[in-house]
Amino acid sequence: MFDNNIHISKSYSEAEKVVLYNGNCLNLLDQIPDKKIQLIVTSPPYNIGKEYEKKLKLENYLLQQERVIRECERVLSDNGSICWQVGNYVDNGYIIPLDTVLYPIFSDLGLLLRNRIIWHFEHGLHCSNRFSGRYETIMWFTRKTKNYVFNLDPIRVPQKYPGKKYFKGPKAGQYSCNPLGKNPGDVWDIPNVKSNHVEKTEHPCQFPVGLIERLVLSMSNQDDWVLDPFLGTGTSIVAAIRHDRRGAGAETENKYITISKTRIQEAIAGTLKVRPMNKPKYDPKIAGNKLTKAPWGHYEESNLKQPMLLEERGEYKIENS
Ligand SMILES: C[S@@+](CC[C@H](N)C(=O)[O-])C[C@H]1O[C@@H](n2cnc3c(N)ncnc32)[C@H](O)[C@@H]1O
Repeated sequence: MFDNNIHISKSYSEAEKVVLYNGNCLNLLDQIPDKKIQLIVTSPPYNIGKEYEKKLKLENYLLQQERVIRECERVLSDNGSICWQVGNYVDNGYIIPLDTVLYPIFSDLGLLLRNRIIWHFEHGLHCSNRFSGRYETIMWFTRKTKNYVFNLDPIRVPQKYPGKKYFKGPKAGQYSCNPLGKNPGDVWDIPNVKSNHVEKTEHPCQFPVGLIERLVLSMSNQDDWVLDPFLGTGTSIVAAIRHDRRGAGAETENKYITISKTRIQEAIAGTLKVRPMNKPKYDPKIAGNKLTKAPWGHYEESNLKQPMLLEERGEYKIENS
């Protein structure tokens, strides 16, 4: 799976396999000829004053994003995809979901939205004046074509009822599920990279590798280029390398370039620690974590237990829909 001889190039050339560009993504995009990239996946700065960004007026931020998105559209292959992962712009306690204000930029370029994926996670700031934010979105765009790449089989997930059978009709008695698993749907429950995560670096908002692997496997093929204009710690290149794709990315901050380089080298060597793509979420109760017992005793075990569903007791027959 891993080719130990991969060289990390500082600039784009079609013959390379990995490009790590230290600088503004517009300069990297400038080096890439039209329609060369199969998958562009990124999480841009959200304009919320993180250490790597200067908070701008929203209109100026959107103009800046538009310049990058235009270039991304230019380098996108005819059957390629753009996945723009964003959360909220927050100002004085009110929010503007960034996908709502970025969507018109993509649609004005003639791109079509195929899914708006909800990435749900459980850790983050606890708000006291509104509900704590526990999801972000991935807008997935393609060109106006039916031939865009979408490989479902490599990203199927286990069914809830794999033993389910057709109970009537010509297939009665046969298993009704695809043995390869089911479509993961458009709500993805993948832990975000916080302090106990095996992939955690010092970057405040890293992608989990498994999130990007799902996009890489479904929207590109072996040897295709995957590009991340706002690379951070190199996660998109890591996900690309792990599945024999080529990876390119730009990052302005030297310290994140250093982290990216180390992670990419470890991915090439096959030694990078990564949370497996479909690993079930940690359940502290099932794991027997003692901290799940409330010292103030309000939450009796019996109150938390779900009543058994009728269908689990066999009192209700599941029919195929
Ligand atoms: C939200 S973070 C991306 C984190 C990344 N997804 C990861 O897994 O580590 C955005 C990154 O874009 C970088 N950045 C900001 N403006 C940039 C630009 N014009 N060109 C390239 N990188 C930029 C920031 O330094 C930051 O690390």
